[in-house]
Amino acid sequence: MLLEVQDINVHYGKIAALKGITLDVNEGEIVSLIGANGAGKTTTLKTISGLRPLTSGKVLFEGEDISKMQGHRRVRLGIGQSPEGRGVFPGMTVQENLLMGAYTRKGEFSADLEKVYGRFPRLAERKTQFAGTMSGGEQQMIAIGRALMTNPRVLLLDEPSMGLAPMLIAEIFKIIQEINADGTTVLLVEQNAQQALKISHRAYVLETGRVVKSAPGKDLLDDPQVRAAYLGGH
Ligand SMILES: Nc1ncnc2c1ncn2[C@@H]1O[C@H](COP(=O)(O)OP(=O)(O)OP(=O)(O)O)[C@@H](O)[C@H]1O
Ligand SMILES: [Mg+2]
Repeated sequence: MLLEVQDINVHYGKIAALKGITLDVNEGEIVSLIGANGAGKTTTLKTISGLRPLTSGKVLFEGEDISKMQGHRRVRLGIGQSPEGRGVFPGMTVQENLLMGAYTRKGEFSADLEKVYGRFPRLAERKTQFAGTMSGGEQQMIAIGRALMTNPRVLLLDEPSMGLAPMLIAEIFKIIQEINADGTTVLLVEQNAQQALKISHRAYVLETGRVVKSAPGKDLLDDPQVRAAYLGGH
């Protein structure tokens, strides 16, 4: 098992955001977390990447307990995160933003930079443009590209399709599948449940800090409860 989350409880002050979340991600999978606003999806990703401390429970990476490990060391182990709301550095160029992703790495990363530019030709055309002047979709590409520059074993993506036009949403989901086909495991958080479930090997449904359902993505697409709650009842 590549990534295991075991019965984690996470608090913001006295408020319990996660109440015993357990999930796992196998090498090579795309696994999605779906759920309403405030269900705990972002908190789960942040706890895995080390941005939030846990109150109890464990996070394991390749069987090793990393619950107390600092975030930058988790990045080095192979946990890459593209945060919610993009989080690019607006005053830095596209290329500088991408290189920020490689700053914890030792050794050669120019091949990875070329790979990111190959994956996102738009970024290759705009290497010297300030990230803050790129469009919303382009900034999303920068954020994903920057996470890829950490050369992750597992890529944590928080709402990569947020705020994008339908055509660009389809493009982002295609790119996620390509990244996965290239050998990177993906843990994906999405409001856009329909498309996320379509490309996911498995998915977990979160409700108010708990996992209420887990199944292969395609099964959840046909699940009446999931359809009513998260797929607009269609
Ligand atoms: N910094 C914070 N301080 C206090 N409470 C927080 C903080 N961040 C999140 N929470 C609370 O924790 C719970 C889970 O939030 P989280 O951001 O993980 O939800 P989410 O599933 O990602 O929601 P969304 O779909 O809106 O992004 C919510 O009740 C939220 O209000
Ligand atoms: Mg969120």
